[in-house]
Amino acid sequence: MIYLDYAAGAPLDPTVAERMADVMAMGLGNPSSLHSAGRKARGLIDEARETLAKALGVDFAEVLFTSGGTEADNLAILGCMGAAPAGRDALVVSAIEHHAVLGAAEQAERRGFRVTRMAPGPDGRVEPEAVAQALDESVALVSVMHANNETGAVMDVPAMAAAAHRVGALCHTDAVQSFCCLPFLPARMGCDLASVSSHKIGGPPGVGALTVRRGVRLRPILHGGSQERGVRSGTEALHLIVGFGEAVRLAMERREDDAALARACADRFEAAVRVGVPEVQRNGPAGRTRPGVVNLRFGGLDGAALVISLDMAGVAASTGAACSAGSPEPSHVLLAMGLDEDEARASVRFSFGRGVTEDQADRAASIVVEQVRRMRRGV
Ligand SMILES: Cc1ncc(COP(=O)(O)O)c(C=O)c1O
Repeated sequence: MIYLDYAAGAPLDPTVAERMADVMAMGLGNPSSLHSAGRKARGLIDEARETLAKALGVDFAEVLFTSGGTEADNLAILGCMGAAPAGRDALVVSAIEHHAVLGAAEQAERRGFRVTRMAPGPDGRVEPEAVAQALDESVALVSVMHANNETGAVMDVPAMAAAAHRVGALCHTDAVQSFCCLPFLPARMGCDLASVSSHKIGGPPGVGALTVRRGVRLRPILHGGSQERGVRSGTEALHLIVGFGEAVRLAMERREDDAALARACADRFEAAVRVGVPEVQRNGPAGRTRPGVVNLRFGGLDGAALVISLDMAGVAASTGAACSAGSPEPSHVLLAMGLDEDEARASVRFSFGRGVTEDQADRAASIVVEQVRRMRRGV
């Protein structure tokens, strides 16, 4: 199987798996316990927090561990809106956000907040000028993702953060797809909050983090033992957090090599598919994308049927966000970019990462060409 679905989830790195197994074998207790086993567990969590803080260019205390990108996005949106000062009752998000942000925004709307959803341009990038024009002093939070999970389009987050700050609003970015893949320093970009996730970078699923600039107030969405500075209650998942820290350490060490290889493989793959299927279209901007994401539109075909044929032929790809895969709905990201339903349904995302070789990219391209031609012949 040639795995080309890194944007949905990268395989667990064997070094990370080993480190997690070691920690689980230690049988340490609760990191909040005062005994030595508890203190040892706390020390391991602190180490992982320090690794993330360094990689993200924020302070140790500004990193809060969560159960993943989804919880980090929910905490950012609902936490900021819940703690917003009187008179600031509006939230601005982009229409191409992950469902974790869009679902939280819907929830905020049900609680009485006003929500504006900014459409992207046809290339899938949200224009900072359009966001700036939508802002006024009633806005509490602007949330626009750094790199889109379906097209790889990279947004001008610093410009949007500056626009948010001009009206006194906070800025959050979902950096789940860019962390450890592109340079990403939330504080330098002006972000008050940023979400990251472990399983996109070779760490285990079920753990992520939200960076929260010192001084930003959040209303908790979970209530209990007041872990994570009182904002995210629940006993910390020690082995997952340690695995996340290890994955970040490895990914930061290899970031440039991994990104260069992912880009080279994706470019090579796309060029070869274009030769075999000249009418194929690419969804998303020509440049300015997260390395390794190629979203292709095979006019007239059903993307889900193509994904199944590819799977049987040995290539794992996907029709869009994994959490909505299997749903008959066409991608909300592609629709927001102006594609019609048939065009959106004819699209497949191929995403490359650490471990994919150029030879695999070439073989995957021939399989794609073969399957597309076969489906076009109706056999
Ligand atoms: C952009 C983006 N945000 C959030 C998430 C959710 O992260 P998690 O799977 O860790 O909950 C994903 C995962 O697909 C994503 O791609």
